[in-house]
Amino acid sequence: MSPAADADSRLPRHVAIVMDGNGRWAQQRGLPRSEGHRAGLAAVRRTVEACRELGIRHLTLYAFSTENWKRPPGEIRALMGLLREFLDARLGDLLRQGIRLHVIGQPERLPHLVRVRLDRVVKQTAGGKEGTLTLALSYGSRAEIAAAARQLAEEAKAGTLDPRTIDEATLAARLQTAGLPDPDLVIRTAGEKRLSNFLLWQLSYAEFWFTDLCWPDFDRETLHGALAEFARRQRRFGGVTHA
Ligand code: FPP
Repeated sequence: MSPAADADSRLPRHVAIVMDGNGRWAQQRGLPRSEGHRAGLAAVRRTVEACRELGIRHLTLYAFSTENWKRPPGEIRALMGLLREFLDARLGDLLRQGIRLHVIGQPERLPHLVRVRLDRVVKQTAGGKEGTLTLALSYGSRAEIAAAARQLAEEAKAGTLDPRTIDEATLAARLQTAGLPDPDLVIRTAGEKRLSNFLLWQLSYAEFWFTDLCWPDFDRETLHGALAEFARRQRRFGGVTHA
């Protein structure tokens, strides 16, 4: 990881991606949806690699939402199979590159064989200091915020937390993203322009970037386009820009 790159505020420290359009990509080619997800996995590999090369330290991918459980069982099985494949194949790379795997969401709802692999990769990469790959799995932002509120209430009830001291940082520390910087840039593919219950708290000041490309077509060039536009935007965080 290049420290120079990290010091350059025109490069996002943390990129979050809503990977959309696997199904449409497959449909356009007369293929089953599972083939779209498989091609989506190849795009995940390319993107993880490109972010590492560019010096983007933190990448968060929305891989499975709480709403995705409503999909047909066959499609869910195919997605879980790809996740297992990813975890088996990527462990070595993550370790070599010093990247820590982090999971947000409800991994306890995932099939046993996926959980076992997730636990293993999370444990083995825990010492990674170069960056973080966060997978949002069975994730929903409102549920995450509600859980943090519940935890604050329990601590206050137990007398370990004075409610008068609760501020933004107190709540942020109880989110599953505690310790990670907020994403600077959020990307969504396939022409949709909504957040879909993704990181509602953490994206408060993020720049949004959308593309009509379906996720399986997302490549380095697309990422470079998003980063170039991010670099041109002026982030004021509600303040004014000084010349
Ligand atoms: C959205 O496309 C994508 C998903 C619901 C799953 C994302 C999964 C992958 C990219 C592959 C596996 C990833 C990992 C990290 C192992 P969609 O099916 O909603 O597309 P559609 O809107 O065109 O139907």
